[in-house]
Amino acid sequence: SSHVEHDLVNILFTEAQIQQRLGEMALQITEDYEGRDLLVVGVLRGAVMVMADLARAMPIHLEMDWMAVSSYGSGTKSSGVVRILKDLDTDISGRDVLIVDEIIDTGLTLSWLVNNLSSRSPASVEIATLLRKPEALSMPVEPKYVGWDIPNEFVVGYGLDYRERYRNLRDIGTLAPHVYS
Ligand code: PRP
Ligand code: MG
Repeated sequence: SSHVEHDLVNILFTEAQIQQRLGEMALQITEDYEGRDLLVVGVLRGAVMVMADLARAMPIHLEMDWMAVSSYGSGTKSSGVVRILKDLDTDISGRDVLIVDEIIDTGLTLSWLVNNLSSRSPASVEIATLLRKPEALSMPVEPKYVGWDIPNEFVVGYGLDYRERYRNLRDIGTLAPHVYS
């Protein structure tokens, strides 16, 4: 079949599970940031779905901005090179910044982003991520909010891509072997 869902062989998290967990995270974030001046920063492109659902689960005043970074500047992630493709439109000096991403893999992207944003004199910088792969982590990243820790296997859906596809899946899962061949 040409239906995109049929390329998933194993579903790790269903749409309902994702929304439930984001609701729990949103509740915690809402409590923690009560009375503060929250700026939520989404990391393009993978974080689009998490941003949209997490932000709508928080019944508080907040602002949203976006960054796009590339961690493939000189070939592979292990090179450790991160470049800004699109910077914030917001001056974050004195602001409470919450970076939102859908996965922490090696940690390169978010460790670099935390350092970069911290140098702009924000009041605070924290991270919310839906997924984290503890076994793959090679850079120091300490997210304040984590949806789930997962094994070190390749997952797609809900923003996560394989060759730019599968981001539009509602669930998160692993791809059938035929997709790679
Ligand atoms: C993916 C993912 C995270 C990052 C995690 O983004 O969305 O942002 O990799 O990996 P790391 O912890 O090893 O840095 P990617 O750079 O592939 O771009 P995308 O968001 O546009 O898919
Ligand atoms: Mg990303």
